[in-house]
Amino acid sequence: MKIKPAVQLVGHVAVPGDKSISHRSVLLGALGEGETHVHRFGRSGDTQSTIDAVRTLGVEVEDVAEDELIIHGVGLRGLPPGTVDCGNAGTLMRLVMGVLAGQSGRFELTGDESLSTRPMERIAEPLRQMGATIETTDGHAPVIVEGSGALHGVSYELPMASAQVKSAVLLAGLNAEGPTTVVEPVPTRDHTELMLESAGVHVTRRPRSVTIEPAIALHLGEIDIPGDISSAAPFLAAAALVPGSDITIHDVNLNPRRTGFLDVLERMGAHLAIFNRHKAGREQIGDVQIQYTELGAVEVNGNEVPLLVDELPLVALLAVHARGKSVVRGAQELRVKETDRIEAVTDGLRSFGAHVTSRPDGWEINGVPTRLKGGRIDARGDHRIAMLGAVAGLASREGVEIVGADTVAISFPGFFQLLESLVKR
Ligand code: S3P
Repeated sequence: MKIKPAVQLVGHVAVPGDKSISHRSVLLGALGEGETHVHRFGRSGDTQSTIDAVRTLGVEVEDVAEDELIIHGVGLRGLPPGTVDCGNAGTLMRLVMGVLAGQSGRFELTGDESLSTRPMERIAEPLRQMGATIETTDGHAPVIVEGSGALHGVSYELPMASAQVKSAVLLAGLNAEGPTTVVEPVPTRDHTELMLESAGVHVTRRPRSVTIEPAIALHLGEIDIPGDISSAAPFLAAAALVPGSDITIHDVNLNPRRTGFLDVLERMGAHLAIFNRHKAGREQIGDVQIQYTELGAVEVNGNEVPLLVDELPLVALLAVHARGKSVVRGAQELRVKETDRIEAVTDGLRSFGAHVTSRPDGWEINGVPTRLKGGRIDARGDHRIAMLGAVAGLASREGVEIVGADTVAISFPGFFQLLESLVKR
């Protein structure tokens, strides 16, 4: 697919429901009592994998609409043994390992080629400490989970900042004896904790750790999912880069553990405004407006990385166009995402004419406030890299050809159409 340069982006849009919260709504809904009614479900390749996974395990999920589900929960220990295909979805595989650790029986988890290269021992290790038997294939999928009806709570210190690992341990803790605590090196997204609290679980939150008590039952009822800030980010980046742009994205999730990208944009000098702040359950929502203005360089450090981890490729693109030297550090986790995002971004942006050098844990970028030439980028099967290519194309002189653009459907099937609806050429 070829993305041609834009003259401007103007208008108002809303993006689909948050992917992280959508996965959690289905997994927790499956473990719930009775019906869970999910509104503004962010349907995508990844979240469909989660629906298919719980259906395989005998859970009835009604597709009321594209963005609306009713999940008929089977209770906290009601999932029968089986084989689950997790597709490309790392969040699904990691979280479901935690869910299955506390069920009785043998489960096999498989994934596509990319997911089968991603680290899974980071989840297996704490779950073994809790009493589950887990086998990985050289640290990767396929993974076998031998659940145990007799898990015990642990206090686990995360060796890396990962909401997926934290969530897996907490989900296993629902069916454990005694409390389960996860200590984090730096705070990561807390959607699991918030949803468990809403479901009636006793959750104690401290700045660097979270403890849950085992649950008797989950009562979710209605879940309203806010728009995904990670899906809003490419739109915000495009408007920040294309002169004369002025866009507003409505009903975006503004959970402070997800808004690192907005903070970075502000530090770069972007014109951002947030309106209409309100809450959906325990999550925060608002409308985000951005107007083009010239950007300055920025530094991003490890403490901030979890707050914008999926947006870092876009930060690199912004920095390429921002006057001065930018540095992103402490982002080594990007090397184990759907592809090695540090190298994918460096190779792609350099080929467009940008001054980017990769570091083991991020990038150094010498930014120049001018359009890049453009060219061709291989998405490498990674939805975030395809979206990066699209934004780079809009802000370029000659456009960008994206190889494997279809992969955007992993998180946002309507991405290109919605983006085009804002573009003036
Ligand atoms: C996610 C956590 C992050 C993020 C991923 C979704 C989640 O991964 O990159 O897209 O839903 O918990 P890590 O926990 O591995 O950092």
